[in-house]
Amino acid sequence: MSTTAPSRSNLALSRKEDLKTFAQDPRRRQPDALTRAQLEALSDEASVEHNLRRREWHANIGPIKTPQLIELHEDLWDIVDSNLQDGDKAKGAIAVDAFPGLGKTTSVLAFAREFHRREIAEQGEFTAQGHERLPVCRVGLTGNTGMKDLNRAILEFFGHPGRNRGTTAQLGQRALDCVLSCEVRLLALDDLHFLKWNQRNGIEVSNHLKWIANEFPVTLLMIGVGLAGKGLFSEGGSRGEAVLAQTGRRTTRLGMRPFTIESEAGRREWRQMLLALEQRLVLADKYPGMLADDLSDYFFARSTGHIGSLMTLINRGCQRAVRTGTERLDRDLLDSVKNDEASEAARRELEAALEKRRLTSRPRSGRSKAA
Ligand SMILES: Nc1ncnc2c1ncn2[C@@H]1O[C@H](COP(=O)(O)OP(=O)(O)O)[C@@H](O)[C@H]1O
Ligand SMILES: [Mg+2]
Repeated sequence: MSTTAPSRSNLALSRKEDLKTFAQDPRRRQPDALTRAQLEALSDEASVEHNLRRREWHANIGPIKTPQLIELHEDLWDIVDSNLQDGDKAKGAIAVDAFPGLGKTTSVLAFAREFHRREIAEQGEFTAQGHERLPVCRVGLTGNTGMKDLNRAILEFFGHPGRNRGTTAQLGQRALDCVLSCEVRLLALDDLHFLKWNQRNGIEVSNHLKWIANEFPVTLLMIGVGLAGKGLFSEGGSRGEAVLAQTGRRTTRLGMRPFTIESEAGRREWRQMLLALEQRLVLADKYPGMLADDLSDYFFARSTGHIGSLMTLINRGCQRAVRTGTERLDRDLLDSVKNDEASEAARRELEAALEKRRLTSRPRSGRSKAA
């Protein structure tokens, strides 16, 4: 293993070095599954080491190849590859628009990793001009970002010395230079809903994004919550804003859905995901079906099918199971683990329905047998 795990926990992935490390490093290796007897036979030192590795592992499980992630990746490949046409042809933009905690950032980063690796493998680490090749530029926005801040954030990604002075237009020009010299192909703007976007400057923002989409020879990938409501895709009819309409027409909107249990197909997806997750837990007393049979309804009620809430619970539950020596997940242990507020509110209603057997999260086929 080249880099050690601790350095990775500091990665915000908004700088090129971090994104490169993320893309190029091998994935974490799953710690060995030890039985209780083997755990007890470990020396103090070995036990500390094993538990440290398990803590880091459980805190970073994934990404699981959920149907949502696979579908998003297929769409992204279609669009990004069809944008690799020559010259000045305008390239289609993408908006990944969905509620928080559904895996947008995780899935896009996993895509960025694969895309980076493919491009570097095919084209080499350096451009013909001798610049560092960076197939993906990724910027995460934070509260109330203006357009100048957005340009600056792109320059931050490249570590450009001119990132702190100049007008919005000058910063934008420098950003374009960086994108061109590093031959960026995919520009991902995450949490775009943080862009200051009000009635007054709505057109200005749209123009800015359109400028990026038109001038930068990249696939523009916008990620955020409620982007549709901000007029990004509107045809402009009602307010007659032709500018917005143009952004909309070339932007493909992709969503991400929560897991649902109303249909048999939905229940099967949920189960597959739990089975995959089960494989990745490193607890001495885990057993086949621990998640997919015994905790399926429980996890659905507590997460309402949102992968973010599910992973928070699993992560915290595993930390507690290791710390307390319980070495397995069950209701008692998980009941003492806190989850985010939105999930807790939805949980009570759902649990009532599941208890009365009006609802189940488990498919008819394969119930009570673990694959
Ligand atoms: N495919 C996945 N496999 C494993 N964990 C995932 C996956 N997708 C999301 N998660 C977990 O859910 C949490 C929320 O996901 P995130 O990508 O941040 O959602 P969003 O960007 O839509 O708010 C992440 O911290 C991550 O741990
Ligand atoms: Mg996100």
